Amino acid sequence: MNTHTKMDAHHVMDAPDHRNRLDDMAQGILGTTMDRPDGPLKVTGTATYAHEDHPAGMLHGVLVRATVPRGTLDGTHDAAVLALPGVRRVLHGDRFLRNPAQGTANEAPVQGSREIFYVGQPVALVVAETFEQARHGAQRLVLQMTPGDAVTDPTADDIAVERDPDEQSSMGDLDKAMKDAAFSVDQTYTTPGHTSAAMEPHAAVAWWDGDKLTIRASAQMLKYNKNEIADSLGIDVRDVHMLAPYVGGGFGGKLGISPEAVAAALAARDLGAPVSVAMTRRQVSEATMRRSETVQQIRLAADADGVLTGIGHVARVSQLEDEDYAEPVTQATPFLYRGKNREIGLELVRVNATCAGSVRAPGEAVGLTALEIAMDELAVAAGIDPVELRRRNIPEVDPSDDKPFSSHTLEAALDDGAKAFGWDGRKTKTTDGDWLVGSGMSSAVRVNMIGESHARVTLNPDGTLLIETDMTDVGTGTYAILTQIAGEMLGVTPDRITTVLGDSDLPESAGSGGSWGASSAGSSVFLACERIRQEIAKTLDCDEGDLTLKDGIATAANRQVPLAQVLGDAPLTSTGVIEPGKTSEAVRQATFGAFFAEVGVHRVTGEVRVRRMHGSFAAGRILNAKTARSQCLGGMTFGIGMALTEAMIFDPRDGRLVNGDFGEYHIPVNADVPQLTVNFVHERDPWANPMQAKGIGELGICGAGACVLNAIHDACGVRVRDLPATLDRIL
Ligand code: MOS
Repeated sequence: MNTHTKMDAHHVMDAPDHRNRLDDMAQGILGTTMDRPDGPLKVTGTATYAHEDHPAGMLHGVLVRATVPRGTLDGTHDAAVLALPGVRRVLHGDRFLRNPAQGTANEAPVQGSREIFYVGQPVALVVAETFEQARHGAQRLVLQMTPGDAVTDPTADDIAVERDPDEQSSMGDLDKAMKDAAFSVDQTYTTPGHTSAAMEPHAAVAWWDGDKLTIRASAQMLKYNKNEIADSLGIDVRDVHMLAPYVGGGFGGKLGISPEAVAAALAARDLGAPVSVAMTRRQVSEATMRRSETVQQIRLAADADGVLTGIGHVARVSQLEDEDYAEPVTQATPFLYRGKNREIGLELVRVNATCAGSVRAPGEAVGLTALEIAMDELAVAAGIDPVELRRRNIPEVDPSDDKPFSSHTLEAALDDGAKAFGWDGRKTKTTDGDWLVGSGMSSAVRVNMIGESHARVTLNPDGTLLIETDMTDVGTGTYAILTQIAGEMLGVTPDRITTVLGDSDLPESAGSGGSWGASSAGSSVFLACERIRQEIAKTLDCDEGDLTLKDGIATAANRQVPLAQVLGDAPLTSTGVIEPGKTSEAVRQATFGAFFAEVGVHRVTGEVRVRRMHGSFAAGRILNAKTARSQCLGGMTFGIGMALTEAMIFDPRDGRLVNGDFGEYHIPVNADVPQLTVNFVHERDPWANPMQAKGIGELGICGAGACVLNAIHDACGVRVRDLPATLDRIL
């Protein structure tokens, strides 16, 4: 028997890791454009999403939603619905739930509320033998509700405003800086609500074996999600087994569990049979998460050279009455640019509308977009080239606390992007037939984080490799990236590696969210592999640094030994654990980039066409050149959506979402998106993790909308400050 089967490798990021191991290895597996192993399964329909594996005897549940924005559910006319063909149960009230909190494990159970907080809130579930029977029952179910007083207009003059003291910061004297400024901007910008719009709607299939719940779900972070399920049901988390091997996009909407998962579990327990609940697109839009609308007042004060002397950024967002989360609009403002006089703050108002949560780069996506429009206004006012204005305002250290940056790549990204786009020879204030043509640019920035992550790696005597973690692949390329990291470390080709994800019984990862997935889960795989290498080196009596593993052969100094011989007849298994540690106390860590766009504005209709768009980004080591690029293409596409088309529209009378489907909520389609180009700027950030890789998932959206809006101004002179730039706002 092998005695090394429980080798742990635990690493806390308290200090920079300068070893640069992966560059030294250069096996040609990591960093390549390797295709996603899950890709063929997905495009041939063989990957099983949450609602695609139906256990025998499965019943179907359909959610019923409140039609008043505030009040109580007193009952339902169950009898008429229960008499319909196939209907088995109507769950509501004390046997139902309000709205599970997002991403917050171990909170009080949320089951059992009769309170209504917004139109569209799931308040009942009709379960039947077929989906059609359940839908029929749900349509026929009459709710008895007592309406209460609701607040449905976040812009109302008399609305109560909360200020989060943790989000307020004040330095110097901004009013004086504004008065003394050679050039200044003082404007208000607004962005509407956004829906995450993942391709796979939220769905769950649940079944019980005694006290044990198994639930197939569409979820981003199983470590937290299994706890949320346990809390919602009032059961022990050890009795929850969640499966999410394939997730059709999350974009924040699946960071926490949502009502369908709890409803399926409750109904399955009640009925003693598997129950599925799949949301419609409208239900996803109304009853999961929205990005809050924002109102942002931005003040910029600059000297005669365009160097900032002051920045003011105060944002107002909305949320349900008892939810904690507030869109962190000003997250990157404190450290992006110079200027010692500052007023930065976040205000929150409470409205009875769909729960606000994380959607596609919460904070910077909308906050930086407004700030980067303001920077363009400053560039125009000062007569300084917008790229040059940003160069002049790159701070030496984080101006808010004088912490050094772990690595800073904004200037490199600006230079690379300007060159790739051809900024100096750009089309500006010109025409092409009936089109007014102009160009614009903006900076990109996103905070960089890792989360505690565990992964188990097993090297078998036959040279095959098994990677196991509860990490999810939400379309981002996790299967490919983790395979590449282990392949690179242990010299195993990807066809001999099996990567198992999305099972809550496996070692707990940070999950997919906040751009930390690949760097966190990847680091845990790296550490496990490093530990396996150390063990092999010990057996061969050499330093791990001198060990080369390739295609089943271990080479140490002048010896070559087949791995099978080193391992004997037992596999080597190690669990790698990465923890964030004190890095954030020592340094400011972020990813940077720059966007450039050329647009045409039709002189008669006001229609805007993005003609081309480029992004240059730095995110430390790029783990897979294709999936990283795809993340950026997706982000830039969201940027086009934010600039031109996307807006959740709520009826101010009752907070009802008016456009809860893709016919009316316009995400950009192929015809809206021109050729997008992406460059990566070389970076190694030793503070990030042992791989020196940073998050890339959300950087491509952070500020992306601004380059389009700045290009519109360049083309036709119209400054759009209320997003999106629909025809009525251009003409
Ligand atoms: Mo993200 S919006 O943290 O999935």
